[in-house]
Amino acid sequence: MERCMQPVGVFDSGVGGISVLRELVKQMPGEDFIYFGDSVHAPYGTRPLDEVKKLTIDNVGFLLENGAKSIVVACNTATSAAVARLREMYPLVPLVGIEPAIKPAVLYKNNSCIVVMATPMTLKQEKFQKLMHQYDDMADIVPLPCPGLMEFVEHGILYGEELEKYIIKLLNPVKNKNINSIVLGCTHYPFVKSVIQKIAGSQVMVFDGGEGTAREMKRRLLEAGLLNNNKKKGSVKFINSLNTEEELKLCQFLLEYESR
Ligand code: DGL
Repeated sequence: MERCMQPVGVFDSGVGGISVLRELVKQMPGEDFIYFGDSVHAPYGTRPLDEVKKLTIDNVGFLLENGAKSIVVACNTATSAAVARLREMYPLVPLVGIEPAIKPAVLYKNNSCIVVMATPMTLKQEKFQKLMHQYDDMADIVPLPCPGLMEFVEHGILYGEELEKYIIKLLNPVKNKNINSIVLGCTHYPFVKSVIQKIAGSQVMVFDGGEGTAREMKRRLLEAGLLNNNKKKGSVKFINSLNTEEELKLCQFLLEYESR
């Protein structure tokens, strides 16, 4: 098979990366995609760093063995833990990670207060600390660890009272701040964006990194001459380490889900 015809590999600790996959499909409808969700080991964000590194490296190996021509690390946690190592291991593979979309939030409004919701691991890593300090004089950036939030999405809970109560509790430490923007620094959170927006208020802009990540993958494929010029609609193949019928149904559902 010609290399450009091979699929784009995408993975996450679970189903969250499907929020990035949706953008990839929108921007590159002719591509085929393989999506791997490691729901057996989710969440990654509260595991030791070495374990997440190893799981991430294994996931990339698995996608490449399955014929992926390029890799999207659709997980902020895995990106912060292992993207540098992956780049050393696979210098010839177009590989794109995701990081919290702080830049568009900073550009949106001068001197604003920006809350970054993400996993404890993402916020602890040097990669995030560096990113945040780049904008020190332009915005008040407040990291907000959100342990437990991705589990709602893993269980297919995207709205409802229990989730609302949980998000109110998570936002409690920042409730007295004059928040201008919230950055969703975990790929699971766009699926509960409407609940976050409802609690934060309509005056708050909510950003996520899915669209920018998809744009970057497209650019990298073009540059490498690997974009699939197929005029037909491409396919999406889901593989989940839980390997149950329900899990695959949830993946399909999330691919088509429009946050209310
Ligand atoms: N979806 C992942 C992220 O973007 C992480 C969730 C987790 O496994 O803790 O960070």
